[in-house]
Amino acid sequence: AAPARYEAETSPAVCSGTIDSNWTGFTGSGFCNGTNSTSGYAQFTVTAAAAGTATLGIRFANGTTTARPADVVVNGTTAQSTSFEGTGAWSTWVTKTLSVQVTAGSNTIRLNPTTSGGLANIDHLDF
Ligand code: GCU
Repeated sequence: AAPARYEAETSPAVCSGTIDSNWTGFTGSGFCNGTNSTSGYAQFTVTAAAAGTATLGIRFANGTTTARPADVVVNGTTAQSTSFEGTGAWSTWVTKTLSVQVTAGSNTIRLNPTTSGGLANIDHLDF
């Protein structure tokens, strides 16, 4: 099936920061600009048809030249670490593809930044 799109600005997603729309190119009505600290997370709640390996497509922009690393926390447990590299401009959006294990039904997927720069701007999650 085609992936479902979960917008970072739309409940039940949670953005520990502000929902902004000042940089063009986002989908939906905005994006999550997490606070520039390790507490500035973005969390999605997704529905999996079955348990197993799922593909995440995380669309982000990072207008700095410094990558912004983050833990990918699935249902409260860190599944892997990733990093949101510079994309050249805040209006240049890139999709990062990751694989994680999920359970059948509802799952939380949280991006927890691990450095003081916080997250990249997060647009959506395709799941
Ligand atoms: C700038 C930019 C924001 C971004 C922030 C950051 O302020 O306008 O969209 O989130 O930098 O460094 O995270």
